[in-house]
Amino acid sequence: MNALLEVRSYCKRFTIHHLEREIPAFENLDFDLYEGQFMLVTGPNGAGKSTLLRCLFRTYLPSSGSALYLSRTGGVDLVTATDRQILNLRHEEIGHVTQFLKARPRVSALAMVAESFLHRPNADVTPDAAEQDARELLDSFGLKRELHHAYPTTFSGGEQQKVNLAHTLATTRRLILLDEPTASLDAVARAALTTRLSLLKDQGVAFIGVFHHPEDIRHLIDKEIEIKHVA
Ligand SMILES: Nc1ncnc2c1ncn2[C@@H]1O[C@H](COP(=O)(O)OP(=O)(O)OP(=O)(O)O)[C@@H](O)[C@H]1O
Ligand SMILES: [Mg+2]
Repeated sequence: MNALLEVRSYCKRFTIHHLEREIPAFENLDFDLYEGQFMLVTGPNGAGKSTLLRCLFRTYLPSSGSALYLSRTGGVDLVTATDRQILNLRHEEIGHVTQFLKARPRVSALAMVAESFLHRPNADVTPDAAEQDARELLDSFGLKRELHHAYPTTFSGGEQQKVNLAHTLATTRRLILLDEPTASLDAVARAALTTRLSLLKDQGVAFIGVFHHPEDIRHLIDKEIEIKHVA
């Protein structure tokens, strides 16, 4: 079986112009990830964990190396792929959950999550069924019913994170990047997240995650990569 993701000699340095120097984030990372695998990323604050996820999602461009991703339509290097290819992959295959919700004005929490269910590729879902699935998923995360029809821009940090997770985990992604998704979640939501991740993993979804409390998901971890401070 071919790897879903093959990362080789992957490096990221930031150029700080006003200091006229470069700050290395990570250097020479090598790893493979297969369908259904869960990789934990560890390392101290500022090591480059979030930067690694942002590079794979191409929010940042890595400085060198390659990240060969085996998409449904063939292999693509995430480092050199065109912006159009990256947009398609973000739409169809690769998800990124950060601690910040990109809420759209005047779109309710329920509508945001229902949209993800509705837009699953090859799924035959009615808008009513999508809304029902979205309600159940938000319920499982413990988002209060009275907030389902409210706009998430005014939600608390934890409530926003619940919508964020439901929005990404409702879709059928093949690779999901998780950046401290439990940081502001209560116990109910953390348990619901673990259940959902386990279900998706069984369906073959691969994960790369940074976790504040890795004990929650210890049983899901297949491999670990530690990013050390680069001197
Ligand atoms: N856009 C940027 N411009 C310049 N430097 C940056 C940028 N983004 C991140 N950095 C630097 O890169 C290093 C790695 O940051 P990153 O956010 O990846 O760390 P992290 O391992 O996720 O840390 P934490 O555990 O605190 O979340 C830090 O020193 C940070 O200051
Ligand atoms: Mg981080």
